[in-house]
Amino acid sequence: MKSILVTGGAGFIGSHLVRLLVNKYPDYKIINMDVLTYAGNLANLKDIEDKENYEFVKCDICDFEKVQKIFLDYKIESVIHLAAESHVDRSIKDPFSFAQTNVMGTLSLLQAAKFAWEGNYEGKLFYHVSTDEVYGSLGEEGFFLETTAYDPHSPYSASKASSDHFVRSFQDTFGLPTVISNCSNNYGSYQFPEKLIPLFINNICNNKALPVYGKGLNVRDWLYVEDHARAIDVIFHEGKVGDTYNIGGFNEWTNIDLIKVMIKTVDRLLGREEGESEKLITYVTDRAGHDLRYAIDSTKLKEELGWEPSLQFEEGIEETVKWYLENKEWMENITSGEYEKYYAEMYKS
Ligand code: NAD
Ligand code: TYD
Repeated sequence: MKSILVTGGAGFIGSHLVRLLVNKYPDYKIINMDVLTYAGNLANLKDIEDKENYEFVKCDICDFEKVQKIFLDYKIESVIHLAAESHVDRSIKDPFSFAQTNVMGTLSLLQAAKFAWEGNYEGKLFYHVSTDEVYGSLGEEGFFLETTAYDPHSPYSASKASSDHFVRSFQDTFGLPTVISNCSNNYGSYQFPEKLIPLFINNICNNKALPVYGKGLNVRDWLYVEDHARAIDVIFHEGKVGDTYNIGGFNEWTNIDLIKVMIKTVDRLLGREEGESEKLITYVTDRAGHDLRYAIDSTKLKEELGWEPSLQFEEGIEETVKWYLENKEWMENITSGEYEKYYAEMYKS
C-alpha cells in the first residue's frame, strides 16, 4: 500500500483532496497530518473518517522531530503539502505565524522528506500546493503564466513565495523530486467563513452587513474546489518532476459583481424578493496593499495533462450556496465561541 502524506487535510481544500484520494484509490494509505488550527475541522471529513485507507495524525508541521518520526513510522513515499496559514487579512495582522507555518513548516517537511528518502528518490514526490498570489497583481490585461516573475505583496503571498523557493531549492540542491502548482481563488463547501464567499453567504442569510473592501472592483479568478482537487490528482500522478503548473478556470469576477450573484442566489433560495439583500452591502476601508487583479492562464495544464474545470461558475455557485444553506450546523459550530472572539478582535478599529 502506497503511503501518501497529505498536510492540512482538515482544512478547506485539503479535506476535498483527502476525500477524493481516499475514495478513488483504495490501494493508497492517506495519512492526514494537521494540527487543527482555527481553520482545521475534522467535521469536514466525517463521511470518510472510518475508511480503512485513511488515518488522521495530529501534528504541527513545524515540529521537525515529530514530522521525521511520522515519515519513518508510516513509510511515507509521497507528500502533498497544503497545511498553511491561508488568509491575507490575518497575515496583515499577524505576519509571524505566516512565516512560521508557511516557511518554517514547509522547510521542516522538506528536511524530513530528504532524510527519509535520501539515497532512494525512486517513486518519491514532494508536491507543494501554492497560490497564484505569489505572482503579485495584474493590471486590466494579461494573465499569470508559469514563467511570470514572483512579485508578492501581502505577508501571506510573501510567505507562500518563500516556501515555493525553498521547495525548488531542495530540487536543485539535493535532487529531491518536487512539483508545485499555483492555483487561483477556490470556492465551495467547507470553506472557513473568513473568506469572501462563505462569509458573505452566511451574512446574507443572517441579514448582517456585507463589508466590501474599497470600491469592490478588485478582480479574482474563481475555481470550484473539487476541480482544484482533481487538478492536484492529475498533477500528482502525471506531472513532470521539477515542473510548475498553474491551475485556474478562466473565470474572472469583480468582487461587487460576484457579491450581487451571491445575493441574488441566496434571496431566491430563501424566497426573498429579488435583490432584497443588496441593502446589506457596506463599503468599508480597503485592505492594505490590496492586489487589484488575479487571472490564471492554465493552458499548460490543459495541453500537457488534459485537465479542465468540470463545472460552470453558475452551477458551482448554486451548489455552494445550497450547501451552506443545508449545512447550517456546520457553520454555527465554527462561527460560535472562539471564532466570534477572534473575529471581533481582528476587525476592531
Ligand atoms: P485552510 O486555512 O482552510 O486550511 C489550512 C489547514 O492547514 C487547516 O486544516 C489547518 O489546521 C492546517 N494547518 C495550519 N497550520 C498548520 C501547522 N503548523 N501544522 C499542521 N497543520 C496546519 O486553507 P485552504 O484554503 O484549504 O488552503 C490550503 C492550501 O492551498 C494552502 O497552502 C493555500 O496557500 C493553498 N491555496 C489556497 C487557495 C484558496 O483559495 N483557498 C488558493 C490557492 C492555493
Ligand atoms: P479573500 O476571500 O480573502 O481571498 P484573497 O484575498 O486571497 O483573494 O478575498 C477575496 C476578495 O474579496 C479580495 O479582493 C478581498 C475581498 N473581500 C472583501 O471585499 N470583503 C471581505 O470581507 C473579504 C473577506 C474579502
